[in-house]
Amino acid sequence: MLSYLHAFHAGNFADVQKHAALVLALRMMQAKSSGIACFDTHAGSASYNLLGDRALKTGEAQSGIQRVWQCREQLQSSDWQVLMDELASGAGAGGTLERYPGSPHWFYRFLREQDSLTAFELHPAEGETLGRWGAGRSGVRVCQEDGLKGLLRFLPPRQPRLLVLTDPSYEVKSEYEDVADTLVKAWQKCRHGVFLVWYPVLAGRPHERLKNALSESPIRKVLCHEIMLERPPERGMSGSGILVVNPPWGFDSRLTAMMDAVSSSSCLGTTAAMDWLVPE
Ligand SMILES: C[S@@+](CC[C@H](N)C(=O)[O-])C[C@H]1O[C@@H](n2cnc3c(N)ncnc32)[C@H](O)[C@@H]1O
Repeated sequence: MLSYLHAFHAGNFADVQKHAALVLALRMMQAKSSGIACFDTHAGSASYNLLGDRALKTGEAQSGIQRVWQCREQLQSSDWQVLMDELASGAGAGGTLERYPGSPHWFYRFLREQDSLTAFELHPAEGETLGRWGAGRSGVRVCQEDGLKGLLRFLPPRQPRLLVLTDPSYEVKSEYEDVADTLVKAWQKCRHGVFLVWYPVLAGRPHERLKNALSESPIRKVLCHEIMLERPPERGMSGSGILVVNPPWGFDSRLTAMMDAVSSSSCLGTTAAMDWLVPE
């Protein structure tokens, strides 16, 4: 039984890092004209109300994307600018964001004619909302099923290139191992694919199981970017990490620059580390 609902967490500091990395990877891959098959294995519901009860209950967006939005004048790079331009459509008159896009929407916003998006969501209500969002959107296929199993069924894709985001809620204890296992199988079917895997940094550091499993796997070229909160809450996430298999050349320095630009204590209040988990 799935109980996680992303509406409580949408736009938090982890979403900022994850969506910055996602859009950067997609745009860098699009420097070449050949088509990209995009997969979002844990898609959520694609659009979130930041003024709704769920978002306001946790206040996570207030210390995440709302802060970034407030310091947008200082974000000069084109890598941030494209994100800010998209967020502008969800901004209210009062200078705060009212809506925040989820990962399927970020994919969709940059999709070209030759690209496609397959988005999976297992939670019945979230899956229905996602289905309504996807209906009539060109190049988008929504599957209300397990994204890890579904991904493997669709690989290798029709298009010459592949970009996968895996962003589980890690509600199931075995999920760190399941994600690693699926990633290895997916990589074996499509070795040139770019795979982004998000994980939370929690007490007890359960994400080390995922990292260890990947370090011991045949997968090469895995970049790891982590941001840590300078003032972590007593409970919950103290940091957020993203693993990137086969990152586009130069991705590491551009993501570092992006996250450094929003790291000050008046913005996200984070420190960052980037390293190769597995080199080439
Ligand atoms: C962290 S949220 C996704 C947020 C979204 N990727 C974003 O960035 O906007 C994780 C989602 O995965 C869904 N989920 C959990 N297990 C799943 C599975 N095995 N397959 C597909 N979706 C799953 C949850 O219902 C939840 O909506």
